Amino acid sequence: MFVLPEWRNRGVGTALLEAAESAAAARGDQGVSLAVSTGNAAARRLYTRLGYADAGVPVHRHATTEPGFDSDGHSGNETVIDLVKRLDGVAAAAWPAARGGDRSRDAR
Ligand SMILES: CC(C)(COP(=O)(O)OP(=O)(O)OC[C@H]1O[C@@H](n2cnc3c(N)ncnc32)[C@H](O)[C@@H]1OP(=O)(O)O)[C@@H](O)C(=O)NCCC(=O)NCCS
Repeated sequence: MFVLPEWRNRGVGTALLEAAESAAAARGDQGVSLAVSTGNAAARRLYTRLGYADAGVPVHRHATTEPGFDSDGHSGNETVIDLVKRLDGVAAAAWPAARGGDRSRDAR
């Protein structure tokens, strides 16, 4: 997940993660897991606030690709911790079902 620096701290990251959780719930997933760099305090605060907890897996090295603009992205390795969140109580998104669901509108 990446939010442009000038758009951070306005709730965009929270909204993106909540949308991903709703989409996962809509397809029947029971939980979400993610990996976050152990040194990434801002991201870890966000995940903790949204209910993510330590998965209990030892921290490990993980290949990453940072997005970039104007071809300035880069790949590397970082030390990450795995976090998990169960989706009990997360409302399923309406949009994945609606896409293929109601075809009566298309027929008109
Ligand atoms: C981590 C990241 C995705 C968070 O995105 P974001 O859009 O800043 O996230 P939010 O705005 O939802 O939350 C960030 C903070 O803003 C606060 N906030 C949210 N809406 C706000 C608002 N309207 N006014 C003021 N503050 C607000 C949140 O409470 C949160 O505070 P905290 O840092 O004390 O926890 C972003 O920092 C980023 O792209 N980082 C670089 C890439 C990265 O590290 N990605 C994660 C890899 S695992």
